[in-house]
Amino acid sequence: MDREWYDKNYPKYKDMRMQARADDNRLRYHLMPPAGWINDPNGLCQFQGVYHIYFQYTPFLAGWGTKIWGHYTTRDWVHFREEEPFLFPDCVWDRDGVYSGSAFVKDDQVHYFYTGNVKLTDGNYDYIMEGREQNTIHVISADGMSAGEKELVLSHSDYPQDMTRHVRDPKVFAQGDSYYMLLGARDNEDKGCALLFRSKDLEHWTYVQRMDAQKDFGYMWECPDLFTVAGHPFLLVCPQGMPEKEHCYQNIYQCGYFTAEQDVRKGRFELGEFQELDKGFDFYAAQTFEDERGRRILLAWMGMPDADYDNKVTADQGWIHALAMPRVLTVRAGKLLQNPLEEMAQLRKNQRHTTLRAFGRQKTKDCCFELRLKFCGQAEAMSLWLREDVKLVYKSGTLILCLGKSGCKRKRRTTLLESLKSLAVFSDTSSIEIFVNGGEVTMSTRVYSESLVQDVWFEDTNADADVEWYDLDGIMVQWKD
Ligand code: FRU
Repeated sequence: MDREWYDKNYPKYKDMRMQARADDNRLRYHLMPPAGWINDPNGLCQFQGVYHIYFQYTPFLAGWGTKIWGHYTTRDWVHFREEEPFLFPDCVWDRDGVYSGSAFVKDDQVHYFYTGNVKLTDGNYDYIMEGREQNTIHVISADGMSAGEKELVLSHSDYPQDMTRHVRDPKVFAQGDSYYMLLGARDNEDKGCALLFRSKDLEHWTYVQRMDAQKDFGYMWECPDLFTVAGHPFLLVCPQGMPEKEHCYQNIYQCGYFTAEQDVRKGRFELGEFQELDKGFDFYAAQTFEDERGRRILLAWMGMPDADYDNKVTADQGWIHALAMPRVLTVRAGKLLQNPLEEMAQLRKNQRHTTLRAFGRQKTKDCCFELRLKFCGQAEAMSLWLREDVKLVYKSGTLILCLGKSGCKRKRRTTLLESLKSLAVFSDTSSIEIFVNGGEVTMSTRVYSESLVQDVWFEDTNADADVEWYDLDGIMVQWKD
């Protein structure tokens, strides 16, 4: 799908876009595809004041298809613009999809690195050891809006010899006087890892080393990212193939991080214990960037590939998936804390202040609210109903998110807590994101209630809390048409 094909076909899908935008399940304060499908956030950066959010996008299909890079911009995280798509598969290196990648701002230009996906169809391939090319491609832009010429910087023969054909999702950053690129990979023995390359000029890249866990940690790592927060280094990855164990790895694929101290003597990175970033159902392919104020901001796909639960109700209306709320990362006791970007507070309306005991049963406005609880002393037990068939339960040190029919086969996710001190719940028409204990744990999910007339109330609760509660307005998106 090159730009010309897209432009020619775009008018034909007007009805699809209108249908998608009229859907009741359309989220009010999350980014979604204008119509069609969204997955990973890509190329995140702030350039000359403007935040650029590119994303994996199939504009004319609410299902898996050939990816282009869609594009939103914002200055304040409340007003957004839908921009023209940024990248199309239009050359031999990316003909079957412009896959995920990152942006690197240098002087007055933005450098993008992404994976060009090529799937051969002329033979009987397994698409793991053969039949696929994943090329690393570089493009430069002077304004974040239009991309210059594509340049192939790495292809299969440049990757270490013990790699399968799955090597993708470049993340580029600078350290000292060098540039580094990290790629997600699956090796010939089905071990997931990240590959580190170095460059002096962003064009010529040399392989440095592989980063992996001491013991087996899945067969493939997607979407790697390496960054520091308050001087602490972290490696973020999405491992595939982790067996579920109690309270851990409950989703088919994981999205989380290791601490990544560099052992200069051994010349390698020591990865700490893996922490899942989110304990809900729908959270994957997170990517971070540092904005002009020095904040480390994380965006993620609020979806889960190959899950056994679905989003059919919106796919039937011509759109599917969304990005999770933007989160700011900070560190406490060596662990990442995630909290909604402070700009989200601009959406608050009708503040109410009460206590848990006096809360009663509250009506919501189309399920769009922010609910904040600060527990007084130890919370023993709590059931917080967020909708008629969605509840968050805390008992015996376990937090449990339970969904009924509106979960479309999402049932239960659990996590252990040392104690429950605070909760912030962000509910949108068809999503819920929960931030526990100041962002120590988060749980995100899609939910498809038959009606948006819903109440919130507590049951079986042995705790008291200070409660703050707001209705939330929507963000504003200026659409192309
Ligand atoms: C992660 C991912 C990436 C890939 C992209 C394709 O969700 O599979 O590894 O680049 O999505 O859309």
